[in-house]
Amino acid sequence: MGFKEQIDINRLPEHIAIIMDGNGRWAKNQGKFRVFGHESGVLSVKDIVEGCVDIGIKYLTVYAFSTENWNRPIEEVNALMELLISTINEQADTLNKNNVRLNAIGDLKSLPQKCIDDLASVMEKTGKNTKCTLTLALSYSAKWEILEAAKKLAQQVKDAELSIEDIDEEKFASHLTTTNIPDPELMIRTSGEHRVSNFLLWQMAYTELYFTETLWPDFRREDLFEAIVDYQKRERRFGKISEQLN
Ligand code: IPE
Ligand code: IPE
Ligand code: MG
Repeated sequence: MGFKEQIDINRLPEHIAIIMDGNGRWAKNQGKFRVFGHESGVLSVKDIVEGCVDIGIKYLTVYAFSTENWNRPIEEVNALMELLISTINEQADTLNKNNVRLNAIGDLKSLPQKCIDDLASVMEKTGKNTKCTLTLALSYSAKWEILEAAKKLAQQVKDAELSIEDIDEEKFASHLTTTNIPDPELMIRTSGEHRVSNFLLWQMAYTELYFTETLWPDFRREDLFEAIVDYQKRERRFGKISEQLN
């Protein structure tokens, strides 16, 4: 029996987040340039989005470029930006066909203008789609977004629009870039690295973490289904004891 058949569709995670890692090593293993790994990684993204649509995952968030990734060699950064632009434009029709809405989080204004414009255009073109929301984390850093939220709240308190007592988790989360998106129940990281690398720190407070040695360009929907099966075997206690759960 394949992993897909083992999934209980009544207990699917609503939101899956992925740190797509290992493109560079994948390319290097074949004696190719790192960019080839990034290009191949796009095929994985396509397959995973379709896998999510196929089984009914409502939200998929993929870490495509971190704030720290700006420190890579300029040629790689430029190649990634160009790949991003060509991919979103090429995929717009497929996203619509699959009823997928494109969304983006991160310090988007630091992206090249062409990226900003094309992202806005594809987000608008796919904005009414309802089956799945695909969020690209671009120039994203969790510490950055938490600081931004803190600054906005501080300004509101300073302007007497908000009292300190009214700052609760819900209020704080409403100023994060993921407002209107539920917290991920499952986070997958490929390539054998066991760290979070500044991704969704607030939102992953109670997320189940899944790590696989598979490099991102080799990751396909069957690997996603395997991760979901693993997730469904876990007991999520949220601080309680087993006997308290029904
Ligand atoms: C992930 O693959 C893609 C990005 C971070 C943009 P890497 O480029 O980090 O690949 P490795 O980790 O060097 O193999
Ligand atoms: C994390 O991968 C960021 C993305 C996948 C976009 P990195 O490859 O940049 O992470 P570190 O530097 O190994 O932690
Ligand atoms: Mg990496």
